[in-house]
Formats: sequence, structure tokens, C-alpha cells
Amino acid sequence: MAKKLMAALADSSMFLREWLANPLRVGAVAPSSPKLAAAMAEWLPADPENYVLELGPGTGAVTQALIKYGLREDRLVAIERNPNMADLLRKRFPQARIITGDAWQLDHLLQRCQTPIAHVGAVISSLPLLNFPPDQAESLAVKIQSVLHPHGNWVQYSYNLGKKQPRGANRFHLHASKIVWLNLPPARVSVYAKTKRG
Ligand SMILES: C[S@@+](CC[C@H](N)C(=O)[O-])C[C@H]1O[C@@H](n2cnc3c(N)ncnc32)[C@H](O)[C@@H]1O
Repeated sequence: MAKKLMAALADSSMFLREWLANPLRVGAVAPSSPKLAAAMAEWLPADPENYVLELGPGTGAVTQALIKYGLREDRLVAIERNPNMADLLRKRFPQARIITGDAWQLDHLLQRCQTPIAHVGAVISSLPLLNFPPDQAESLAVKIQSVLHPHGNWVQYSYNLGKKQPRGANRFHLHASKIVWLNLPPARVSVYAKTKRG
């Protein structure tokens, strides 16, 4: 219990430090709450062999929930731009593939993985898309679409509670959306399907 609390405090202080150094890129002052992380993790692919690509894992709040909800660590690929956060994640999730890099390069980064990443069943993104220009968000959406399995979902949270269709998502089909109030600040989790569901 005390160990868990110490880890949570260390994560929060790392987050705050990195946010002070680069607020737009980090995009939040604190890690996601357990409620928000759980709302993202609800959308794991049904097939346990499928990979999950996490974008912007930070200190691993959502990553932890993905594993708790049943994702095999060796089926997780995460791309985090901040090297300090990526190093922390490598220690915490030794069987996952934690890539220090830019999510906008996801196609090249996945190609460079030693074992091919076939069947990405879900892309779970915490990237602060509101801090990027619309055309940049659009180019990310194109890349997400190209790696995602036909039945896969892109799960994205946003602090813009009113908008269900975030930047770049108009080429996807909105499948579900809900507000998680127990987070600082409250966030909307939206799920976009690559192909329309009947
Ligand atoms: C709002 S934080 C979310 C962190 C964590 N997933 C959570 O929910 O607590 C956004 C994360 O995206 C990362 N990030 C921002 N731009 C990125 C990029 N271009 N490529 C990869 N990661 C990026 C930041 O470093 C930060 O860790």
C-alpha cells in the first residue's frame, strides 16, 4: 500500500516537472485518474493475440489499466516522446515494447520493430490533440487508420467535453462516447471504429 502511494506520488511529481518544462506537449498537469484509465481500458480488442498500440502513455496510468483489464504485456506497443517517461515505462513493463519517439512516425516505428506488429486491434491514445493544428491531427488519423485492423477501434480522450469528434477523427465512425467526471480535469472518452458497425 505504502509502495503504491509512493509510486503514485513519484509519477505525479514527474508529470508536473515535465509539464512545467513543456506544457503543450505533455498536455496535462497530472496522470489520468483510475476512472479515466479504466474507461479507456474497457475497449481492449476481443482477440487476446491482437496488439494494442498506446500513444502518449506518459507515466503509465492508462497502461496499468490495460494490463489490469487483461492485455498481455507482450501485446503492448507504446510510443512516448518524453525519454524520462519512456525509461520509467520500460522498467515497469519489461515485456512490452516501449518506443521513445514521435507518434506521428508510428508507421516507421512499427516497421522497425524486430517482431512484426501484425493486427493492431486498438489504438489507445492520450495525445493532447487539441494542442496540435488540425492538419497535423488529420495526418495522425490517416496513420492510425492504416495500421488498425478492419474491426479495430481508436480510443481517444479529450478535455473538450462538448466535442465527440476530435481533430482528425472524421474519417472514422463514432462508436461510443462518455464523460469521466472523476479526473483532473474531467475528460471525454470517445471510441472510433475503423469500419461502420451495424
Ligand atoms: C495528457 S498526457 C497523458 C499521459 C498518460 N497516458 C495518462 O493518461 O496519464 C500526454 C502524453 O503524450 C505524450 N506526447 C505528446 N506528444 C507526443 C508525440 N508526438 N509522440 C508521443 N508522445 C507524445 C506526452 O509526453 C505525455 O506523456
